[in-house]
Amino acid sequence: MSGGTEQAAALPGLDAPAMGPTGRPLQEFPVPAPLTGHGPARIIAMCNQKGGVGKTTTTINLGAALAEYGRRVLAVDFDPQGALSAGLGIENHEATTIYDLLLSSKRDTREAIQHSSVEGLDVIPANIDLSAAEVHLVSEVAREQILARVLRQVSDDYDLILVDCQPSLGLLTVNALTAAHGVLVPLECEYFALRGVALLKETIDKVQDRLNPALRLDGILATMYDSRTLHSREVLQRVVEAFGPSVLETVIRRTVKFPDASVAGTPITQYAPEHSASDAYRQVARELIARGAVA
Ligand SMILES: Nc1ncnc2c1ncn2[C@@H]1O[C@H](COP(=O)(O)OP(=O)(O)O)[C@@H](O)[C@H]1O
Ligand SMILES: [Mg+2]
Repeated sequence: MSGGTEQAAALPGLDAPAMGPTGRPLQEFPVPAPLTGHGPARIIAMCNQKGGVGKTTTTINLGAALAEYGRRVLAVDFDPQGALSAGLGIENHEATTIYDLLLSSKRDTREAIQHSSVEGLDVIPANIDLSAAEVHLVSEVAREQILARVLRQVSDDYDLILVDCQPSLGLLTVNALTAAHGVLVPLECEYFALRGVALLKETIDKVQDRLNPALRLDGILATMYDSRTLHSREVLQRVVEAFGPSVLETVIRRTVKFPDASVAGTPITQYAPEHSASDAYRQVARELIARGAVA
């Protein structure tokens, strides 16, 4: 028996570090020190022209997790479906929205900002009006820079501004990419997840080239991962092969707690603070801070 243990100890790989789902060694990201001052904000666009991949869920829960770590976060609903606004319990239909700010250069951005139930997490809501914005903005001067101008007014009040894009690569998304310092791409661990990413990359490159040279890809976040299915593991493996270190170590697993939290109109970090899914978004927050994408 003792011979067996010696043999086991000599087997290659036994002393190797534990592997995470991305096939790289598991990493610990430290709890960040509190900030001593706030702003100017770094702006991150949450982007993927495919719907239902976790853009809104990530905006809400990453925002809430960063607010827990003392960061001042502004979440901007940039989708006429208004899922971000609803997911954060913002239901005032008379409220000033992002659409009003885009359409009138005289408006004060602060007029549209509402507090969420999470301390340190504010929201600029959207509603179906926003679907008319592209048509109205097409004839504007510097039509790609309108959101940048809107957000500049409040940049000093926040550490991070997250823009929850709609599932399209139209003028609104180009506005988000032009205003942003970085892009975060949620990618669903499903067949065809990689379809369309080339087109997204092309759009990012074009915006970088023509409008916003400083724009960078902050990361790709694998979502709806199910470690029990071979299919999910294979998709994740292919994503890592395709994008290497751009893929965040943290992976978001599929759980019904997310839709449950959306219905309740609160981030999962409040709805089920002890759930592993809440910890996963806290880990995304720590990983982005460790990567320098967030202060
Ligand atoms: N990790 C997850 N596990 C299970 N369901 C999820 C997960 N992330 C998001 N969802 C659910 O999937 C749906 C689409 O997510 P959402 O964040 O709205 O995507 P997008 O903004 O990209 O369209 C929502 O009902 C949401 O609650
Ligand atoms: Mg969405």
